[in-house]
This record gives sequence, C-alpha cells and structure tokens, in this order.
Amino acid sequence: MPKLVIRGKNRLAGKITVQGSKNSSLPIIAATLLAGGEYHIDNVPDILDVRKMLGILKDLGSRVDFTDSKLIIRTADRIDSGDMPDCRKLRASILMMGVLMGRRGCFDMPYPGGCRLGTRPVNYHIAGLKQYGAMIEETESSIFGKCDSLTGCEYTFAYPSIGALENMILAGVLATGSTILNNCAKEPEVCDLCDFLRKMGAKIYGDGTDTIVIEGVDKLTPADYVIPGDRIVAGTYMIACAAVGGNILIQKIEPRRVRYLTKLLKKTGCHVFTDSVNNEIITLADGGGRAVPYICARPYPEFPTDLQPQTMVLLSVLHGSSKLKDEVFVERYGTAKELAKMGADIQVEEDGVYIKGSARLTGTTVKAGNLRQGAALVIAALAADGITIIEECRHIMRGYEDIARDMRRLGADIVWKNETENVDISG
Ligand code: EPZ
Repeated sequence: MPKLVIRGKNRLAGKITVQGSKNSSLPIIAATLLAGGEYHIDNVPDILDVRKMLGILKDLGSRVDFTDSKLIIRTADRIDSGDMPDCRKLRASILMMGVLMGRRGCFDMPYPGGCRLGTRPVNYHIAGLKQYGAMIEETESSIFGKCDSLTGCEYTFAYPSIGALENMILAGVLATGSTILNNCAKEPEVCDLCDFLRKMGAKIYGDGTDTIVIEGVDKLTPADYVIPGDRIVAGTYMIACAAVGGNILIQKIEPRRVRYLTKLLKKTGCHVFTDSVNNEIITLADGGGRAVPYICARPYPEFPTDLQPQTMVLLSVLHGSSKLKDEVFVERYGTAKELAKMGADIQVEEDGVYIKGSARLTGTTVKAGNLRQGAALVIAALAADGITIIEECRHIMRGYEDIARDMRRLGADIVWKNETENVDISG
C-alpha cells in the first residue's frame, strides 16, 4: 500500500479545480441500472470507490468507458443476476438493494464494506424496503430481497440516513403509485441523485427538505449529467489553508455546499470570499487563528461528519481550547490517537474530544486508518515541523483523486512513495 512523505510548514498558495463529488457519483452510477441504454456522465472523480462501483455494474452486464473524468455507461436491456463480489469493498454497494429491487424486483448480495467508523448497520435500509412489500432475508454474510411488484408506501426514517433514503428513492421511482418519505436526509448529494433521476423521467418532489414525494412511473430512459464539485474535498483543502496559512482559490465548487464550514473558518479569523456565479472560493489565513469552543457534526445543513477529522487537526493547532463531537458516527474519533503521536494535546472522552490547541506538531510515522482520517493526517503533516510519513494511504485514494498532486499545486512538499521505499526523515 503506498505511503505519503510530507515536509511541513510550507504556506499554501495557488489555485486548483476540485474533483467531482464521490458521494454524488456513487448513487448516480448505481441509478444507471434502472434503464437500459447509454449514459454520458462528466466530472466523475477517478477514485477507488468509483472504480469498484463500476466493477459491480460490469458484473451485472453494463459496459463502461471511463477516461479523463468522462464516463460512458451502456446498461443492458436485461440485467442478469450476477455475483457482485466487489460489494464487500465499499459502503455504497448497499445501493444495489434499492436499484435492483426497483429494476428487477430482487437482489442477492454480500454485505457492503466501507470505512471502519463504528458499526455500520443496514436496519433502516431493510425496514424501508419492506414497506414497499419486499421480502428480505439476511444471512451471516449476505442480504437477499424479493418483491414481485413494488407498491408505493409512506415511510418515516428513524434517523435521516443518506444511504437508506437513496435506496428508498432508487426503489420507489418505478414502484406502482405514490411514496411519501419523512424525516429525510437533506444532503446535496441526495438532491444531485434526484436531479439525475428527474432527467431520466422520474417524478420526485421535495428533495433537500424533510419530506420527499415520489410518483412511480412505468419506465425511465438514460440521461446525461455533470457531477458537481466535491464539497468534502474542497472543505479539506480550505481547512488545510486555515491550519498552515496561505491564500488559495478553489474552482468548480458551489459555495452554498460548504456554507457551514465557511462560517466556522471566518470565526477562527480566516477570510473566505465566495463567488456563486463562477463557483469559486478564496480562503485567506495567517495560520495562527483562534479556536472555536464547540463544534458538533450533525446531518446537513449542520457541520458535516466527513470534515470532522480534518477539523480536529485544525483545532489542535489554533489558539485556545475546544470540544469536538460527532453525532453522526459517534465512534469517529480515531484521528485523535494519531494526532497525539505528533504532539497534539487531545483527550477522547465519552461525550466528545477535548482539545487544548496551540500544539506544535512534529513529524513522525502515522497510519491513515480510513478515508477522512487519512486526509486529516495530511493536514497535520502540512502543519508539522519536520517530515511525516503517512502509511495505509490506499484509504485516502478511495475518495481523493490525488491529494499529493492537489497539495503540490498549492505549494506543499508532499510525495507518494512505495510502501517498501526507505525515507530519510533526518533532514
Ligand atoms: C454516507 O454514508 C456517506 N457515504 C458517508 O461518507 C457519510 O459519512 C455519511 O453518509 C454521513 O454523512 C456515501 O454517501 C457513499 P448514513 P451512509 O446512512 O449513507 C447510522 C465519506 O467519508 N445508520 O447517513 O452509510 C449509521 O451507522 C463517507 O465519504 C444506522 O444505524 O451514512 C450512522 O451512525 C464516510 N442504520 C448514521 O446512521 C442504517 O441502516 C448515518 O449513516 C443506516 C445508517
């Protein structure tokens, strides 16, 4: 597994274009199974999770051509029941439940994989699909579902789960009759999926609010789409600038998608200028801002859990004490242990993470552990004295096309190395 070698303390300056959104691309790729024919999808990020999702589509008879962020998918007119071993390799494969239930009334798949963020149950997915009249069985390692004809229903989510909502939408667009979904997730990625499905002919109303209504249709047709910029990747780079200091311009990102982070960075003393016409954001920071006393990750439009590890790093180097909590993935505090190795004064308690701030981080060898923890440790390394080696970087490649390429464009001293290559950390 490749590693990253980073020499810290370079201020960031320059401009980069952010990649397309991973969490918009994955459900939209799954949705192409709902109708046979050819789809042209642009600005798709070339990341491991996209490649794995395309592998699942190929197992089901789709033909795929993916170069330079342009994706052409040719979905078969009939979907053969194929084994889908790649389902174990990512969480988003859970969406095969809804899309195959919607297209052919049955699915048989291994449990999904994904980042270790605590247990990742699928009970909301199963409870919802049963409301459509589906019969679902679970074994130790797989889930099987069958429904001769999906009937529209009303379902209230016990928690605004993004994936469970996406599954209910993917199954409901071809159901007979209307479906009403309550207590829905409002993330932009759900709205992107609904935009794409409406272009395919689906009738969906209310996405981005608590209640979504779907009028089932008999047939959908292929559509083309351009994936919006990735708000978590853009947010990662904005936080990096706030942590080390600099002046960066990020292009192809809708400012409203990172508005909560923008508010937070301004509170720490950063200047953030947004341009909603050209979809650009400028972040200016001197790198020594003041911490905010309390941040809690909650469902959109509140602070996103996928920026929580990166924010933990920022709070470690800003001046002042703070508390950080995650109400989405309550065990997602693994970054603290790696950060402590670098000198952060940080304590994980029952009710959240307590951070002293003003840490002078020092380079050492750390482990990425999972996707966003890995991205957070890149920020820590950029802010640290000396050289940091980040191991297990395959996790980072699941969601970032090339974080070293992007950071180098902004002036960072960061390179990829093979796992076995020696690194001189004396310099
Ligand atoms: C999506 O995961 C994202 N993944 C995650 O991004 C993101 O962290 C998460 O939403 C929350 O924003 C994709 O979109 C591919 P959830 P998902 O269902 O759908 C619990 C990244 O870094 N839950 O909204 O799996 C669950 O354990 C990844 O890009 C149940 O209890 O998240 C969690 O505590 C990581 N039962 C909470 O709900 C269920 O059946 C939110 O999960 C489903 C979820």
